[in-house]
Amino acid sequence: MSKQHDIVASPVNEYDEDNVVNPSSNPHFDEILAARLSRRVALKGGISTTAAALLGGSILSACGGSDDPAPAPGPAPAPAPAPAIKLGFTAVAKNKNDLVTVPDGYNVSILHALGDPMHYGDLSWQDDGSESADSYNRRIGDGHDGMYWFGLSDTTGGFQADRSDRGLLAVNHEYVVAPYALHPAGRSTGAARNATEVEKEIYAHGVSIVEVKKDTAGVSMVRGSRFNRRITSATTMDFTGPARGNAQLATLFSTGATQTRGTNNNCANGYTPWGTYLTCEENYLNVISRAAGDDAQRSAKEIISLNRYGLPQNRKSPYLWDTAGVTDLFVRWNSSVTGAAATADYRNTINTFGWVVEIDPFNPDSTPAKRTALGRFNHEGAWPAPAVAGKPIVIYMGDDSRNEYIYKFVSKANWDASDVGKGMAAGAKYLDEGTLYVAKFNADGTGTWVELTFGKNGLTSTATPYAFADQADVVINARLAGDLVGATKMDRPEWGAVHPTSAEVYMTLTNNSNRVATTATPTGSQLKPDAANPRYYVDVKNGTTQQPGNPNGHIIRWKEDATDVTKMTWDIYLFGAQQDAAADVNLSGLTDVNDFSSPDGLYFDKRGMLWIQTDDGAYTDVTNCMMLAAIPGKVGDGAKVTAAGGTATIAGAKATADTVRRFLVGPKECEITGIAMTPDNKTLFFNVQHPGEDTTPDFAGKSFGSYWPSSQTDANARKRPRSATVVITRKDGGEIGI
Ligand code: FEO
Ligand code: CA
Ligand code: CA
Repeated sequence: MSKQHDIVASPVNEYDEDNVVNPSSNPHFDEILAARLSRRVALKGGISTTAAALLGGSILSACGGSDDPAPAPGPAPAPAPAPAIKLGFTAVAKNKNDLVTVPDGYNVSILHALGDPMHYGDLSWQDDGSESADSYNRRIGDGHDGMYWFGLSDTTGGFQADRSDRGLLAVNHEYVVAPYALHPAGRSTGAARNATEVEKEIYAHGVSIVEVKKDTAGVSMVRGSRFNRRITSATTMDFTGPARGNAQLATLFSTGATQTRGTNNNCANGYTPWGTYLTCEENYLNVISRAAGDDAQRSAKEIISLNRYGLPQNRKSPYLWDTAGVTDLFVRWNSSVTGAAATADYRNTINTFGWVVEIDPFNPDSTPAKRTALGRFNHEGAWPAPAVAGKPIVIYMGDDSRNEYIYKFVSKANWDASDVGKGMAAGAKYLDEGTLYVAKFNADGTGTWVELTFGKNGLTSTATPYAFADQADVVINARLAGDLVGATKMDRPEWGAVHPTSAEVYMTLTNNSNRVATTATPTGSQLKPDAANPRYYVDVKNGTTQQPGNPNGHIIRWKEDATDVTKMTWDIYLFGAQQDAAADVNLSGLTDVNDFSSPDGLYFDKRGMLWIQTDDGAYTDVTNCMMLAAIPGKVGDGAKVTAAGGTATIAGAKATADTVRRFLVGPKECEITGIAMTPDNKTLFFNVQHPGEDTTPDFAGKSFGSYWPSSQTDANARKRPRSATVVITRKDGGEIGI
């Protein structure tokens, strides 16, 4: 989700990931770096060994400067194998056209866009916002985001992992781009929302699952398929895992705390080896309000939790859904004490969001499950490591808010390939019992995963400031657990991706305008650079606008220890930069064929080709957002460097035109996000989200910041911009990207 879009007439800007709600005192990287520098001073300046010992016990493994020893090694690295694949297309030039621009030899088509009917009986998109609210239970939702392809078997109607010409495509609908296409003339004004508009918005969020076929006519959605399904912000869901039945999840709707309704602000995603979809709840604070004076009705623990999750009392949500009426459909969005008990009101609505939700795309009647063992926070996505028979399932997750944490879930059950196709029952087996960890990134290039289990690492009933009652309390308040164990505060982790053979993990850190110089005194949520977020510089936009901080973002990666589940080593794979930036900004050596800014979406296809998508506002004076293809090396293939601003870090090998290359550029004022490849690597899906979002629309005059997707085929089109899923194939029918 872009940070730039505000809702017309809203008194509050849309919630975004720049909001900082982590007041804990555990160290950010700048403090770790300070510790590292202190150790370096100790080593170089010859202060007493006693003082050095006080500054840190592992001085011999300190690293980060050219005169320091290398990071403590893990198992001896194997020689880098020759890349099995090569990029084989001509780089697309940066541009500001209102088009998806792809290399010569490739086709572009639209699979589906906001409002397209998935079944028969509803009219096609009318381009005037006249579609009924109810019809969005059967139409494609708004704000296309994370997605996944599931091959579909003709014989069983179930999962067929190697199927490429028939499948189910699950797509997240992150949010409604309210001023643009959904309503007749944008969002109505007034202190109370229009009920019809809100109902439409509730049904336009969530997930769509559609059947897709590829034949001689091309790739298309199968309208009317029995698999086509919408999951919305009103769909009934189960709670499973340690928090099921916990009083903190009790509501008037489910007094036993076993169910809830709806999934919201589903950003990135995941998938399971048994063939289910994982959708992740990120910026749910967009839709949840809390009344003035509510603190007086709450326990001390509740107040700590509510504030830590960004919901202080007297907070109006940007979307104001709770103001649209007195029925349950609307009042449930106000997370305030209004009844005699939690079972009589919706004070706990906030606790019912922020989960990883599992959906069985092959069973349209199945009830989605919020898998609470994976913790509650602003989940960007959930990315599995390759499944290995007889080993646990491992899933990586990031909390996309500034100063938040990176997590890992390790299942109790070991993988058994005979569970493929067993749907929600397999999900219960692997995702309801396991161990949650949070990441600590050490200054020497190593990292530690700290277990978040009740009774361990201080997570006890005597902990302060928040005394945990049990494991349910730990997963519901995972952020507070992370605080207590001293997890490392990160800068808005966006997507992750796991290499299909090496299992090294990549995660984008999209940008940070609040970085300040190492010599500055940070105020508020400002942060100094650190080893894992090392750059501070000033970029210029449109010739005049100063963009200080780390405006172009970077991608961190790590390698797990071969035997110890609590250990890893990390480096920074790639730094975003414009190609003519100073060398200590453009640390990856990007050139005209591969320069980019603000990495967000990330995806490994089965060949090990990495796809990098951007959601940028810094380099958009030069180019629209884009997608690049890359063939990465591995952790440790680069060198120690000093970044702009003077902070030392460990960079991956520099990019070349052979290892990182721009594959496409999107239309105006959009974000490129969401990606899926069929197993034959011959059909690539990606999403264009919120084209035209920076320009105030003129509905009467039909004047918008973008006219995409209609502009893709008609340069004179004047239709509303819509989020959509795009299909890329090669004209010669070959594999994408090579
Ligand atoms: Fe929805 Fe973190 O982007
Ligand atoms: Ca994102
Ligand atoms: Ca610039």
